[in-house]
Amino acid sequence: EKGGYDHFMLKEIHEQPKAITDTFRGRMLHEEKIIKMSSIENHLDKFLNANRIIIVACGTSWHAGLVGEYLFEDMARIPVEVEYASEFRYRNPIITNKDVVIAISQSGETADTLAAIKLAKSKGAFVYGVCNVVGSSIARETHSGAYTHAGPEIGVASTKAFTTQITVLTLIAMKLGEANGSLAKHTFENYISKMQLIPRQVEELLKIDDKVKEIAEVYKDAKNCLYLGRGFNFPVALEGALKLKEISYIHAEGYPAAEMKHGPIALIDENMPIFVIATNRGHYEKVVSNIQEIKSRAGKIIAIVTEGDTTVKEIADHVIEIPDTEEALTPLLTTIPFQLLSYHIAVMLGKNVDQPRNLAKSVTVE
Ligand code: F6R
Repeated sequence: EKGGYDHFMLKEIHEQPKAITDTFRGRMLHEEKIIKMSSIENHLDKFLNANRIIIVACGTSWHAGLVGEYLFEDMARIPVEVEYASEFRYRNPIITNKDVVIAISQSGETADTLAAIKLAKSKGAFVYGVCNVVGSSIARETHSGAYTHAGPEIGVASTKAFTTQITVLTLIAMKLGEANGSLAKHTFENYISKMQLIPRQVEELLKIDDKVKEIAEVYKDAKNCLYLGRGFNFPVALEGALKLKEISYIHAEGYPAAEMKHGPIALIDENMPIFVIATNRGHYEKVVSNIQEIKSRAGKIIAIVTEGDTTVKEIADHVIEIPDTEEALTPLLTTIPFQLLSYHIAVMLGKNVDQPRNLAKSVTVE
């Protein structure tokens, strides 16, 4: 049942090229250069006339929502807020019938997310679901939605659900950007060609497993780790830290790289591994200068860079290369090494990777 893998988590990490391809299927038509999503087309006026989009979710799905914020604002120029479902529902939030709420949930059963949806509906908002489990409570409770076709996710730590959620959000952002004219035709078509390459690029990236294992060996006994990223990759830093916490029980924090100097920099010494996403687009020089600040305080740097990078390679203690793509699509790639890293560290520490202590796959109580 684990398809020859030692754990469901590793199997699911390796299923991502297929999961992403399945999530494209019938929606992103590469040859025709169109995105076909009836769940959006049938409610296009709701999205295009929305005052704002509010994304509600918990945990990893909330991280996908944060990537969604960057995608929607960048590609479709629609204002977005991302909320923890548990905070949103108890805050007496301001919601009107001009708001579109997108609820993201792998299981479709998360109690807080479900309650947030009911609240939003009662205030007249249009609610769209992004779920993995077909026929789940959230899928049934929403006005419309799109499934992530990740297949069953058994490992408690979410992996392929996260990348397929980002895939769906990217397709929606592209679709809306095209519909409201925010994305020029050639930009839209370029995104389609680059998206089409992602599953193969993830496949390539999965081959770096041995390299990640070497890094895991060096840092597995760390007590604390920092994960840093900017822009589209800030949520990936949060997700990287969450994965490490969940399955290896090592304390880790994700931060936007520039926030480091507002506090966390005080933690840095020679025992602190810092995982930095430093791909070659968007804020590259800024991230390089963040890396230099860390280096001058003796922190250990493990950097994710774009293949062919030379600058970061000279400063970092370890680098992991990802294939080149558009900045907006990098989260689908930068996430992969962090998943593998958490997995290997947890295995080396003898932890129960698929069923970490205190965690449940679906959180049906608040
Ligand atoms: C992390 C993880 C949790 C879930 C969260 C929401 O690996 O699995 O943080 O992401 O409990 O679950 P869903 O997406 O089912 O609503």
